Amino acid sequence: MNDLLIRIVDPAFGHPRGILGRLGGRLMARGNAEQERWAVDSGDLKPGEHVLVVGHGPGVGLVLAARAVGPTGHVVGVDPSETMRRMAAERCAAEIPNGTVEIRDGTAEVTGAEPASLDVVISVNNVMLWQLADGFAEIARVLRPGGRLVLTVHRHVLGRPPEDLQRAAEEAGFHEVALNLRPRRRNSPAVELTAQKPAA
Ligand SMILES: C[S@@+](CC[C@H](N)C(=O)[O-])C[C@H]1O[C@@H](n2cnc3c(N)ncnc32)[C@H](O)[C@@H]1O
Repeated sequence: MNDLLIRIVDPAFGHPRGILGRLGGRLMARGNAEQERWAVDSGDLKPGEHVLVVGHGPGVGLVLAARAVGPTGHVVGVDPSETMRRMAAERCAAEIPNGTVEIRDGTAEVTGAEPASLDVVISVNNVMLWQLADGFAEIARVLRPGGRLVLTVHRHVLGRPPEDLQRAAEEAGFHEVALNLRPRRRNSPAVELTAQKPAA
């Protein structure tokens, strides 16, 4: 990517900030909603479960996850962008006051979650921004035994072979790692990965 493109794309999508960040947030909320829905559906979230959404951006997945786990469940979102945390908090105006959703500063590599405390971790369109091994290791640390990881990313932004994700997940100790490239009409394929932390 050339310098000019990076100077526009990064503050809008990669590390959203300022006016470009808010504009990027609006575009992502519409353009990536289908992937957010896929991730929540694939996580098979059940009422009462505890979920972590890393790199939630404008927060579409937080609302969907909150609906799936219901009032007895809990959804934590972590994102390093203050602009995205603010947009997500606006989107979760009902779910934050009732205690279902909590939004914190964090990344995939440093989530701030307790060890083995979560049933499901979801990541949509942010794995390309991780230190890959550190991100998978952190997610393995915070999932309970038997917990599930669901991850998806546009193929054209991943910047590495999709098989690298499978390898990194396996090296972090995940089992049943499934990698799929789902063709789409108006976009590059969606890279989709599901994995499980081995039961104790
Ligand atoms: C392209 S946006 C995707 C947002 C949303 N999930 C979606 O698909 O519309 C990438 C998001 O990842 C966040 N991010 C940046 N570095 C990250 C990291 N190391 N771990 C997790 N999220 C990160 C950014 O702040 C941004 O909100």
